[in-house]
Amino acid sequence: MSTSTVDGIDGGAFGAGRGEPYGRALANDRGTLSLRSVDGAHGPYRLDVGSWVRSATAADLTVLDGATGPTLDVGCGPGRMVRAAAARSIPALGIDIAPHAVARTRVDGSLALLRSVFGRVPLEGRWQRVLLMDGNVGIGGDPEALLRRCRALLAPLGSIVVEVEADPALEVRSLCTVVDDDGNESEPFPWARIGWVAVEAVARRAGLAIAAHWVASGRHFVRAVPVPSSVADSVPVSAAAPAP
Ligand SMILES: C[S@@+](CC[C@H](N)C(=O)[O-])C[C@H]1O[C@@H](n2cnc3c(N)ncnc32)[C@H](O)[C@@H]1O
Repeated sequence: MSTSTVDGIDGGAFGAGRGEPYGRALANDRGTLSLRSVDGAHGPYRLDVGSWVRSATAADLTVLDGATGPTLDVGCGPGRMVRAAAARSIPALGIDIAPHAVARTRVDGSLALLRSVFGRVPLEGRWQRVLLMDGNVGIGGDPEALLRRCRALLAPLGSIVVEVEADPALEVRSLCTVVDDDGNESEPFPWARIGWVAVEAVARRAGLAIAAHWVASGRHFVRAVPVPSSVADSVPVSAAAPAP
């Protein structure tokens, strides 16, 4: 799959190129992919594509708690969160640079655009909630730049919900590939992983404060809110409220 025509993308894209493992997994509705760091900065990391193509789980739904206004799912994949939001009468749009993912999201009329988060996004500055699920804070390999970009997409009272890693201090950025169980491997692409404590400093540099941290079915989430540039310090994650 070429991503060169997608606005805002000029490098390798998640799981794309060469053996197209991500496209194959979505086409087959199943599979476990491994995220591998090209330089060995971190060990292989398993990604359960099956959970992305199924309906949203109770843990997934916690990220929609309190949401009523426009919700943007960045890197929506086949669209389970867009579907779950719409089912709760929350206006929702998914964006993704993978054509097969966008096509899958649209299958039942759910809204998705083939668009990079770093390109032109509709309703810029008016999204009440922006979602970065399933490790999507790794998009582009620079969480600070991604969070700053997502901050720009938010309405003044909006928030970003980020799924982060259980390892609190984890912070890795590297070129990665995705490989499936049959050995089909993608082109390298920049990616990052970040833990639930490490994200606090990164968010602060992006002009955000962590307002909440919670754990659902073993998965960690934080909710980040914009901080006026005049406010120097954010709420420490350890003091953040326990629920979204
Ligand atoms: C780890 S997968 C997450 C899957 C997804 N959340 C789901 O429910 O299936 C990362 C997703 O982010 C997408 N992605 C990668 N770079 C992107 C970008 N710059 N803008 C938007 N989406 C991107 C990939 O195509 C892929 O679908």
